Amino acid sequence: MKRVENKVVVVTGGASGIGRETCLLLAKEGAKVVIADLSDKDGKKLVDDIESLGGVAKFYHLDVTNEQEVKDVYAKAAKEFGGIDGSINNAGIAGVDKPTHELTEKEWDIVMDINVKGVFFCTKHVVPHMQKSGGGSVVNVSSIYGLVGAGDIPHYHASKAAVRLMAKNDALTYAKDNIRFNSIHPGFIWTPLVERMGKEDPSFRKHLDSLHPIGHIGEPMDIAYGLLFLISDESKFMTGSELIIDGGYTCQ
Ligand SMILES: NC(=O)c1ccc[n+]([C@@H]2O[C@H](COP(=O)([O-])OP(=O)(O)OC[C@H]3O[C@@H](n4cnc5c(N)ncnc54)[C@H](O)[C@@H]3O)[C@@H](O)[C@H]2O)c1
Repeated sequence: MKRVENKVVVVTGGASGIGRETCLLLAKEGAKVVIADLSDKDGKKLVDDIESLGGVAKFYHLDVTNEQEVKDVYAKAAKEFGGIDGSINNAGIAGVDKPTHELTEKEWDIVMDINVKGVFFCTKHVVPHMQKSGGGSVVNVSSIYGLVGAGDIPHYHASKAAVRLMAKNDALTYAKDNIRFNSIHPGFIWTPLVERMGKEDPSFRKHLDSLHPIGHIGEPMDIAYGLLFLISDESKFMTGSELIIDGGYTCQ
């Protein structure tokens, strides 16, 4: 028996980085994976990759800031596969790195819209499907930046702290429906998001490595294994928790 055999799992932002690696791992462990992302090209390529490995996957175009699109994607996924067992609220952006007194309203809003309102819409529209089928597992992808300050990207910190507490509050609300909510808190992981942040600084990666007591930043698979655990029934007694995978970053 594979670890998430026949579970239907939606992964927002599933076409790149942490989401992509998670979709591959979930499929390898028996899940039917729904990749929901802005990037059609990367999403479709990932479906091909999963199918060529013998897995099951479907791609739907999704902008998590568009409530109607969110509603439609969860409805289509539930119809296609007969329900939804897991949902990973992973789509997110870092935003521009400016101190609070220099940030514009627009720069603030774009990060909050994708990272927070997107999680709200996805939760709002997956819950009824899970209530109908008797339960499920939802994971909000937060960050070490949702736990401690680093003195940069203030709007990103605010957004990741918000989804941490949304998971705890939803854990209380929906425990009676057998729907679990947890958050996951990656340290720096080498993905296109992080590569973009350091594209003008050749020493960026070395600097990030030095921030983690374990001596280096993480890779997408380090987080994919945590997400696999939270979606699987192995974590069935876990709700409202924070899974920190950060090479020791927040120990200090
Ligand atoms: N990489 C890190 O160091 C790190 C650390 C902590 C938390 N995170 C979080 O992990 C998640 C994934 O990050 P990543 O590093 O894999 O980034 P990434 O840029 O590689 O992937 C993000 C994906 O989200 C998609 N996306 C962006 N906006 C979207 C929208 N409006 N609707 C739907 N999809 C959208 C992108 O198309 C992309 O495929 C994010 O929430 C990020 O904040 C990342």
